[in-house]
Amino acid sequence: MKQIPQIREVNGIQTLYVDDEPFFILGGEIHNSASSSLSYMEREVWPNLRDLNMNTVVAPLYWEQIEAEEGNYDFEVMDGLIRQARENGMHLVFLWFGLWKNAESMYVPGWMKKNTEVYFRAEKPDGEKLNTISPLCEAAVEKDAAAFAAIMKHIRETDGEESTVIMMQVENEIGLMGTDRDYSVQGQKAFGEQIPIELAEYFGKNGTWTEVFGEDAGEAFMAYYFASAVEKITEAGRKEYPLPCYANAWLKQYPWYPGSYPSGGPVKEMHKIWKKTAPSLFTLAPDIYVPYVAEILDRYGYEGNPLFVPEVRKDAMTSSYCMYAFTAKNAIGYSPFGIEELALPPEAVDKPPMEVMIALNIDPTAFDITGSKEYLKKTYGLINQMKPLLLKYRGTDQMKSYVKKSETDFGTFLRFSDYDLLVGYSPKQSAKPLSAGTVIELEKNRFLLVGMNSQFTFMPKTGEPLTVDYLKIEEGTIENGEWKPGRVMNGDEKMLLRFGDMPSCMMVELYKY
Ligand code: DGJ
Repeated sequence: MKQIPQIREVNGIQTLYVDDEPFFILGGEIHNSASSSLSYMEREVWPNLRDLNMNTVVAPLYWEQIEAEEGNYDFEVMDGLIRQARENGMHLVFLWFGLWKNAESMYVPGWMKKNTEVYFRAEKPDGEKLNTISPLCEAAVEKDAAAFAAIMKHIRETDGEESTVIMMQVENEIGLMGTDRDYSVQGQKAFGEQIPIELAEYFGKNGTWTEVFGEDAGEAFMAYYFASAVEKITEAGRKEYPLPCYANAWLKQYPWYPGSYPSGGPVKEMHKIWKKTAPSLFTLAPDIYVPYVAEILDRYGYEGNPLFVPEVRKDAMTSSYCMYAFTAKNAIGYSPFGIEELALPPEAVDKPPMEVMIALNIDPTAFDITGSKEYLKKTYGLINQMKPLLLKYRGTDQMKSYVKKSETDFGTFLRFSDYDLLVGYSPKQSAKPLSAGTVIELEKNRFLLVGMNSQFTFMPKTGEPLTVDYLKIEEGTIENGEWKPGRVMNGDEKMLLRFGDMPSCMMVELYKY
């Protein structure tokens, strides 16, 4: 029987399976409004995605479009997207732009937007109403859950056999901006109550939100109510069709106080509350536009929270972080934002206006695409061809990966069973990938090196009175996990073992004398 896309554990690592096979999402998220028009997709998006070695498009579904009239669901555009994805040989991760998108209720249908009595807004301490329906509004959450369930039922009926759609994001960058919590009448009342019993048991402490969470009470309170709402919506959908579901976070970042980033969203500090309250989500994913991407990958990919990166910067460095995400952090997937632009000449790309970047707290260099396309394409190609090797060596001592983490990070020292390896990093250059890569010890003296902007010096084990030399250095390619050698580089080339900008691979065989 046909298996639905699902998360399974392989050697202790949570792995996405599609059509009963492990699947790495080599993805890209399209711009917010792209998937509202099938003809726009046909013209401006699909052709641009053909030459990137991608296998998945991360695309929005809009509640206002699907349920423009209360209770009548219209799946024409969604069906069209699925059809187009199939024609283009791609899978889809759908983003459910339901009650919340970037901390606002911008995609809820007009009939709900206008009915502010029933679908009440969250409020700031001074009574100002936000453009965000409160997660305490059960009536709104029920409507969203009903719509999401209808969508999932329709996907099961129309795509259950083909599995074009492989995953769902529930809402988008949820939380409240401009306030730590909802100060509406309903919000005030709930905030004065004791924390829910399940949280009291989990944290081993009873009392009001303030008594239990101190200065973080407002954010913890919102995290609980947002996670409860997402759980209701996800559960309703998964009852119809249990695709893997996740929620994404606008990161906690400068200036650091809740409300300067969406308060109550699934930022790392709120994961315990989110995980306890929304168990139907398989992971909580980071959207990464900050310059310190590797740190975020390290923080958000941990046991019990497999790394999926639905949005990330798309400058040249992204290919380095992509390599690190799959080889060091066992990522389920990786997906730069605004991917349809990568195919365009950099000067043809309209950068989001500075006002938008400031409002969304985005580092503007994240959108500079100079050189990006070729680096990302090559990296996606390598990850795809390395899949059998990654599945075999992930999590073992035979595979070690690295990425340059700061300007003063000059390299790393990797220990293998019979040899040690000094990896030197190149200085950071604009519009080039950062030093990154992975080394696999295939045999005690045979190593596969994959990466960019790195130099390698193999060394004897500490204290061994021997010298290391090469038996063979080969350039080559990887095809479905198999090494295909090209030139043998045993002449001048062996004086300096290095990779340049373009992600590449080589095989090295060593001996000691
Ligand atoms: C984060 C949001 O989730 C996306 O929808 C998009 O707005 C990007 N930021 C930046 O443009």
